[in-house]
Amino acid sequence: MIKKLLGATVVFGFISSAAYAGECDISIDATANMAFSSKEIDIKKTCKEVNLTLKNTGNMPKAAMGHNLVISKKADMQAVLADGNAAGLAKNFVKENDDRVIAYTAVLGGGESATIKFKTDKLNSKDTFAFFCSFPGHAAIMNGVVKFN
Ligand code: CO
Repeated sequence: MIKKLLGATVVFGFISSAAYAGECDISIDATANMAFSSKEIDIKKTCKEVNLTLKNTGNMPKAAMGHNLVISKKADMQAVLADGNAAGLAKNFVKENDDRVIAYTAVLGGGESATIKFKTDKLNSKDTFAFFCSFPGHAAIMNGVVKFN
């Protein structure tokens, strides 16, 4: 009985000193009208890692109206898009081993969802970070800002 109580105390202490796991779970939708459900992704500084879930709530196949979510410095966005376009759908419109890309999901068709886990250390700078869909032609509308604070 005493052992159990001590165990509970230790677990509680751990949770209160680190970020609560749920705080580092982020969900965003890609909607049928070719938009993200939010223009901003807020990541707490206490999150060393983030679980990011993208859901495509549309109903079109991915070759016609697929969506992904890519994070890079805003300054790198156009170059990442150009190289992603050249890489094609089979590579999820992201150049292989692109150092400028901090995280990305696969291109999803309607009704599909994907969760990726990524480290936030690269967000720890004064740069402005963006998220966008790299499906050709989408990023002009499908983009937003990643905030880390
Ligand atoms: Co898209």
